Amino acid sequence: MALKKSEQVAQPADDNNLVCSCTEGNSWHLQSLPEMDSALFNNWVELVESRTGMRIPENRKSFLLSKLSIRMREIKIASYQAYLELVSDEQRGLVEWETLVDRLTVHETRFWRDDSIFQLIQKEYIEKNSLLKHKQLNLQVWSVGCATGEEPYSLALWFEHFCTMNSIENKQGVHATDISLAALATAREGLYPENRLTNLPDGYLNYYFSKVEKDKYKVNDNLKERVCFTKLNLLKMDSFPFSEFDIIVCQNVMIYFDQALRIRILNEFANHLKVGGILILGAGEVLAWNHPGMESVTFPSTLAFRRSCE
Ligand SMILES: C[S@@+](CC[C@H](N)C(=O)[O-])C[C@H]1O[C@@H](n2cnc3c(N)ncnc32)[C@H](O)[C@@H]1O
Repeated sequence: MALKKSEQVAQPADDNNLVCSCTEGNSWHLQSLPEMDSALFNNWVELVESRTGMRIPENRKSFLLSKLSIRMREIKIASYQAYLELVSDEQRGLVEWETLVDRLTVHETRFWRDDSIFQLIQKEYIEKNSLLKHKQLNLQVWSVGCATGEEPYSLALWFEHFCTMNSIENKQGVHATDISLAALATAREGLYPENRLTNLPDGYLNYYFSKVEKDKYKVNDNLKERVCFTKLNLLKMDSFPFSEFDIIVCQNVMIYFDQALRIRILNEFANHLKVGGILILGAGEVLAWNHPGMESVTFPSTLAFRRSCE
């Protein structure tokens, strides 16, 4: 079936076993995904899990196949096995692996995704520690799995607005990390289509963003300076040199990991918090975690823990 050409890259089709691709004649075609036997599928699953923590279940095999097929067609690799050999090679396949990671990770996010975390930060951290009596708010915040930047910019925006409203100097900074270099590049640029900004509270768009193109807005420099984007794989947290955070926000990331890995990462987060610091997760993302230095924080619509002692 020939389709009208509307985009420059191949896209997964709605049907799970089809991929939509552009031929040299510039027309679009739906093609069946090449088969992958279970041994090769297991090798791919193991490679992705050992390097990213993400486990691809059997019922997402067609997701993996469509992402691999699209990329293989782009770089003219004929078989899943040859592609596996390329990306498994830690030297020859390094650059290609970075591209593939971006294709396999889900970067779904939005501005002001979870309003309750701001209320939690205000009540459970700022007010509980009477920080408003100081002339400045000097908090270090870590946005983990920040995708294309909407979460860390929302945090920076909230702090900026909060400090202005309370007439205190904002010295706060957000460290934002992700495994995907492409997502981080988008985040650093800070350029968003208007329809991705509709969730912002009234007035924020005009105050903290500048319209730079038709229907596109850029985060203002003074806000951008508050957010530092760095590549970090949560499986390699030893390489992250920062600790003593006041707040760690990790939402919609753990869902891709199994329970044992979630616990390992949570224990690492605990080590990166100062005493009194708060870890905020997505509601329902973690069950049965006990850490001697962490206590649960009860707050509506949130899952959070406080570092209670060293
Ligand atoms: C669904 S997004 C969550 C975005 C944001 N936190 C939010 O809630 O809106 C998940 C992000 O986790 C990142 N991620 C997945 N595995 C990772 C890993 N091993 N290390 C670091 N980031 C990872 C993905 O690249 C993706 O950007």
